[in-house]
Amino acid sequence: MKHLLKMLDLSTDEIMEILNLADQLKYENKNGITHHILKGQTLGMIFQKSSTRTRVSFETGMYQLGGQALFLSNRDLQIGRGEPVQDTARVLSRYLDGIMIRTFEQKEVEDLAEYGSIPIINGLTDFCHPCQVLADLMTIREFKGTFNGLKMCYIGDGNNMANSLIVGGLKVGMDVSIACPDDYQPDKQVLDFTKQFGDKFTMTNVPLEAAKDADVLFTDVWTSMGEEAETEKRKIAFAGYQINDEIMSAAKPDAMVQHCLPAHREEEITEKVFEAHANEIFEEAENRLHAQKAVLVKTMKKDQ
Ligand code: CP
Ligand code: NVA
Repeated sequence: MKHLLKMLDLSTDEIMEILNLADQLKYENKNGITHHILKGQTLGMIFQKSSTRTRVSFETGMYQLGGQALFLSNRDLQIGRGEPVQDTARVLSRYLDGIMIRTFEQKEVEDLAEYGSIPIINGLTDFCHPCQVLADLMTIREFKGTFNGLKMCYIGDGNNMANSLIVGGLKVGMDVSIACPDDYQPDKQVLDFTKQFGDKFTMTNVPLEAAKDADVLFTDVWTSMGEEAETEKRKIAFAGYQINDEIMSAAKPDAMVQHCLPAHREEEITEKVFEAHANEIFEEAENRLHAQKAVLVKTMKKDQ
C-alpha cells in the first residue's frame, strides 16, 4: 500500500489486512512484545487544524514502532505563508520517510502524494477521515466478532466522517443507513459509489427510520472544524438528529454506539447514551493508535 488518501482507494482485502495487523499490534502492545518495525524512520505530521487523538496517537505509534514523529504546525511551516504544496512535498520527501497531514482540501493531500516520493497518510480533510474509520471498523469487529449481517447507522451531518463510514462500512460488507437533513447530504462521489450496493445502502431524513434494527450507531459533531461561522444555523438544521433513548430503542437491544470524538453532549448525542456506551467509545479512541500503527507499517515498512 503506497498511501492512505481515502477509503475509496482501498480494496476490501487491503482493509482486512490493515485490521488484522492492527489486532496483532494491539495484542503485542498489551503483552509487552516490542515491534520496532520502523526503526530509524521519521514521520512528519502536518496539522492545519486542531487535534488531540490524531496527533498523540500518531506520535506515540511511531515511537512504539521504533521511529519518531515530527509535529509540523501550519503556523510554523512556509506552507502557511504560501509555499506551494508541490515544493513542500519534494523537499520533505528528502528528509522524511512518511507524512501524515490534516488539512482542509482533499486535493492538498492528493497533491502531496503526487509530487512527493514518500507515503502520505490522510489525518482528516473536509472530505474524509480514513484513519478514524479504520479504527471504527476495528472496534466494531472487536465487539461484534464479525461484520457479516451487521447494520451500521449514521445520524447527522453528511460530512467527512459520514463519507468515510459509508465507504468503509459497505466495503467490509455491512448494511449502511444514514439519516441527514436534505441540505447536508454526503459527497456526491460517495453517493455515486453506493449505487453498486443496491439496497445495502439507504439514506433518509428520518433518524428513527435509519436507526431501525441497527447494530452500531454513529454520529459526529454538527459543526466540523472550519465551519464555526455556521454554528447557529447548523444547530437549527440538525435539531432532531441526535442519538438519544428514542433512537436507541429503535436499534437492536445490543446495539453499539460509536463517536469519533470530540463529542458535544446534548447536541448530536445525549449525555445518558454517551456515558452508557463510554466503554465502546473510548476503546474506539484507543484503537486509533493500533489501526494507525498498522497503516504506518503497511505504507512505510521498507522491505515489503
Ligand atoms: N477523532 C479525531 O480525529 O480526533 P482529533 O481531532 O482529536 O484528532
Ligand atoms: N467532522 C469532524 C471530525 C473531527 C474528528 C471535523 O471535521 O471537525
